[in-house]
Amino acid sequence: MPRSSYYLLALLLSFITTFLWFSSNTRTATTTPILSLYSSCSCPPGSETDATPSSPASNPSSSLPKDITVASPSPVPLHPPAEPPQSYYLPYTPSKQLSRLPFPSKLWQKAGPNGIDEDRQKDIKSWHTHNPSLRHEIFTDGNAERYVLDQFAKFPDIIDTYQDLQVPILKADFLRQLILYADGGVWSDLDVTCNTPIDSWIPRKFKNQTNLVVGLEFDGNQFASWTVMAKPKTNHIAAAIEYIMDALEYSAEEANTTISGLTMKTISDVVAVTGPQAMTQAILRSISVELGETVTGENVSNLHEPTLLHDVLVLPNAAFAAMQAGFPEDQGPYLVEHHYAGSWKNDHGGESSPNSPIEQDHLHEEKAEGESDQGGVKSEIREDDE
Ligand SMILES: *[C@@H]1O[C@H](CO)[C@@H](O)[C@H](O)[C@H]1NC(C)=O
Ligand SMILES: *[C@@H]1O[C@H](CO)[C@@H](O)[C@H](O)[C@H]1NC(C)=O
Ligand SMILES: *[C@@H]1O[C@H](CO)[C@@H](O)[C@H](O)[C@H]1NC(C)=O
Repeated sequence: MPRSSYYLLALLLSFITTFLWFSSNTRTATTTPILSLYSSCSCPPGSETDATPSSPASNPSSSLPKDITVASPSPVPLHPPAEPPQSYYLPYTPSKQLSRLPFPSKLWQKAGPNGIDEDRQKDIKSWHTHNPSLRHEIFTDGNAERYVLDQFAKFPDIIDTYQDLQVPILKADFLRQLILYADGGVWSDLDVTCNTPIDSWIPRKFKNQTNLVVGLEFDGNQFASWTVMAKPKTNHIAAAIEYIMDALEYSAEEANTTISGLTMKTISDVVAVTGPQAMTQAILRSISVELGETVTGENVSNLHEPTLLHDVLVLPNAAFAAMQAGFPEDQGPYLVEHHYAGSWKNDHGGESSPNSPIEQDHLHEEKAEGESDQGGVKSEIREDDE
């Protein structure tokens, strides 16, 4: 596929995503003001249709220390769960306190069941070359589950959701947020090349104020989720986790199934439910809460240099997604490069075991778009680039 048609495809997809998001948001806009993020519902069972935020006095979280804020994001759901279990609510470290701490010098990645091929090995090497002191961990399905069990032992709903998810891309999307919350550092999909040392990503003037770094995938619309850098326990990533949990529950309800019953067919839009659009919406909302004013895509559009929104540094389109932006020359350096080698847009939502004949067939039809941690499958786009 020639590069130009790829741009058109990306543009079209971004348009569709935006449209879907807008239409789903207008449905709920009247009942879920953006700043309701930190309200909590403790309605009696069965009252989900007229759910209203409870008063602070009856809020089970009001006895928590002040820095442990209860968050109940309202993403797509028209019918939020009547009784959100308290374990949804993740404690976070106040941003001022976090600002004094460095970003963990650690890279997190995950391999699919087919392992890591030569192209991905080259990508991995690029991180080591540019960041010789970087610690690095590559998860497998097995030890990623162990990690989630250990890190979120106090949050059984998070563990249940992670274990229930059957579609690889949904699990992979969720996992990166869990890691960024629990440990922080850099998450990167395997099909990403590092072009510059991570230490150089944050301009000096923002160094002591930044707790989360995201790069635009689509200007004014969506942050990339293939590479994200965070300090541990930010409210923003806590918000992303909660957003995804709610969106999954809502998707399951819509499809008359459970979270474990969700498939690529029953889920409306992976990008908006667990993927980069979900992350983007959650982060914009948590920034809005911090700033006490509504921050939208407009505030991250037409960026030519890194922009700090509260403690979130938003990098211009060129930084993480130069190709998507048409290789702009007025937006600063291209920090990482995403190769779209992922295989998640098949019926199965990612790699299954190497011996599955059905899966193999789908992989060959695959035209990859979006993020994935799945290595090992060359897309047409990838071959085109070589
Ligand atoms: C952060 O750094 C800037 C510029 O280097 C400085 O003006 C500011 O006072 C610092 N802020 C804190 C909280 O240390
Ligand atoms: C949902 O699934 C249940 C159990 O399979 C079934 O009884 C019910 O009719 C379904 N409802 C809808 C709206 O599809
Ligand atoms: C966000 O954009 C709006 C509209 O352009 C502007 O009024 C507001 O000041 C911006 N907020 C921030 C935090 O930059």
